[in-house]
Amino acid sequence: MNITSKTKICMVIGDPIEHSLGPQKYNDIYKLLGIDDQFVYVACRVKISDVADFIKGVRAMGIRGVSCTIPHKVEVMKYLDKIDPVAEKIGAVNTIVNDDGFLTGYNTDWTGAVVPLERVTPLQGKTVALIGAGGAARAIAYGVVERGAELTIYNRTPEKAKQLAGAVGAKTGSLDDLEDIKNMDIIINATSVGMQPKHDETPLPKEYITNKQVVLDAVYTPRETRLLREAKEQGARVVYGTEMLLHQGLDQFKLYTGHDVPEDMMRDVLDKYLPPKGTK
Ligand code: ATR
Repeated sequence: MNITSKTKICMVIGDPIEHSLGPQKYNDIYKLLGIDDQFVYVACRVKISDVADFIKGVRAMGIRGVSCTIPHKVEVMKYLDKIDPVAEKIGAVNTIVNDDGFLTGYNTDWTGAVVPLERVTPLQGKTVALIGAGGAARAIAYGVVERGAELTIYNRTPEKAKQLAGAVGAKTGSLDDLEDIKNMDIIINATSVGMQPKHDETPLPKEYITNKQVVLDAVYTPRETRLLREAKEQGARVVYGTEMLLHQGLDQFKLYTGHDVPEDMMRDVLDKYLPPKGTK
């Protein structure tokens, strides 16, 4: 460790926070880039009722950057000086940058989804089925519509799907009638269905997946979810949730430090801390 009195603090906040890999991931990269004297990264459990005080603390201590996870992505917005227009449209902030006391909120979740998808297929003019209408779904929905896709949203609570569809300009479908999904180009799971420890579950029965489709699962524990395993069995191309994590992290890192992290460096670091491939 190379911490001095000039080292700037970045952090992740959430409640709970103990599962976060942020500190291991970012401190490793600071070291690999030789900037571990300039930055250190910690995690803090912050209660939602304490967010206003927390932001005062960020200003008072000159914390350089704050990554926000559940449940803070919406709540923090009202305490910032500026919200990036994209984050404003998404309605959530996952990244706060402090420039000499001026706090700006960004959202890097949407590029995290769009960049790995566009490596496999263009989005312009494609039909996309998005399952889920929570926080993660919001950023993905914005991203795919922004890139010119025609989006249909499916969610357990239909009112939430309707609300999100209205906000981004999408259609809605019913989880009780999934037949149309067979004819769509891209399927995205943004629910928590299939996440450990319930890795035997899937948000979409296998028979609705075809070999013409691309399937992205935002869930990355396990890395290969049942949805992705079955998509591969059906001959579909798949995009892993870890790729989303990777790309949102690259953008966030650049906002905090100004440094571009080589993609393979970030991938190697994620490989080190996520459960090994093929494990449940
Ligand atoms: P995140 O920020 O990770 O998106 P979230 O905002 O709590 O978390 O959203 C979770 C999403 O997973 C929601 O779309 C939720 O559906 P509801 O809106 O009906 O709550 C969906 N979800 C969670 N558990 C589910 C389950 N067992 N079956 C279907 N959908 C589920």
